[in-house]
Amino acid sequence: MTANIEINNVSKRYGSMTVLDGLSLSIKANEFMVFLGPSGCGKSTLLRMIAGLESVDEGTISINGERIDTLPPGQRDIAMVFQSYALYPHMTVADNMAFGLRNIAVPSEVISARVAEAARMLEIGHLLERKPGQLSGGQRQRVAIGRAIVKEPKAFLFDEPLSNLDAALRVRTRVELAQLRNRVKSTMIFVTHDQIEAMTLADRIVVMNNRKIEQIGTPMEIYSRPASRFVATFVGSPTMNFLDIGISEDNGFVSARLPDGTQLRTAIRASGLNGGSHALGIRAEAVKLANGVPATTTGKVDVLERLGDRTLLYTRLKDGSVIVAEDIGNSRVAIGDEVGLTLDGSRTHLFDDEGRAWHNEEPGHG
Ligand SMILES: Nc1ncnc2c1ncn2[C@@H]1O[C@H](COP(=O)(O)OP(=O)(O)OP(=O)(O)O)[C@@H](O)[C@H]1O
Ligand SMILES: [Mg+2]
Repeated sequence: MTANIEINNVSKRYGSMTVLDGLSLSIKANEFMVFLGPSGCGKSTLLRMIAGLESVDEGTISINGERIDTLPPGQRDIAMVFQSYALYPHMTVADNMAFGLRNIAVPSEVISARVAEAARMLEIGHLLERKPGQLSGGQRQRVAIGRAIVKEPKAFLFDEPLSNLDAALRVRTRVELAQLRNRVKSTMIFVTHDQIEAMTLADRIVVMNNRKIEQIGTPMEIYSRPASRFVATFVGSPTMNFLDIGISEDNGFVSARLPDGTQLRTAIRASGLNGGSHALGIRAEAVKLANGVPATTTGKVDVLERLGDRTLLYTRLKDGSVIVAEDIGNSRVAIGDEVGLTLDGSRTHLFDDEGRAWHNEEPGHG
């Protein structure tokens, strides 16, 4: 049982405030789709509209070609898992999972079989007779997911299901969810403002901001070829470096004049670029210590962040602009050092003053 979900030109208003403005989106059967965006951008609202918990002011939502936005939630064949798992405290785990099915008079042997199967998938078989109060947060979240699984819905909707868990448990549950995804053949939509969750779980990510969709793409498309400065800023840690630049053409490609006067040739085609101001985007991993090779420019190290496997160097160029470079985990650099930096011009991005993006020509190279 699975669902192809079509969202067509959907808008949502609360009073005079437009929260979602003409969103269109097609989710494939069995796809794991993540809605990613900052707090308040409308992720939960869109999810709740698909579930039927919010009305649709304009546009349509269809599943497998049939319009569902006019159906009551119970007839949409969708299960939703919330951030707060809201289990019934006086019922056992098994009863919590069975409750929704008993309500719609599913035969008890079918219920038992489904609960047992879900418990096996989620590895909570040994907890079935406990009450929610006797479970850890991660176990409760698994029960909440189990409650959704037993319904055998066409689609699962998850609204930040991991955000109440501590950091270690969050990572573990994330991995479990990725494994579960391979066992349960169903369409899944997962809402988060955590870009690492989005990158690790999604087949495709929908980046939302300011009432609109900024970009829809696979994790690597979003990372390597962000459609806007917003996406480039939101996805990736540390965030992409941005430098105000002047641009000129060099044999058909953009050459950037960095704020300290350094010239950097890029792999971005110059054709189609407009006037106005531009920013150059380059991720820290494309800025390295020169270490013998000719440096693009030099900077003074202000801050050093040791992450174990690599070290981030916050360096200040001569004009005062800051660029974060990446060095090995066991970096010998010290704060205050003057270092030569090599910027990989083939891994740069260009953003105009409206936030639109230009990339190099080869996908997957950025
Ligand atoms: N019932 C409501 N009445 C009025 N405004 C609302 C209502 N529900 C949500 N909003 C507003 O709609 C916007 C989108 O809210 P939504 O909950 O969808 O955001 P979100 O992306 O899920 O954010 P978060 O990451 O914080 O959960 C917000 O500005 C919010 O204040
Ligand atoms: Mg939300």
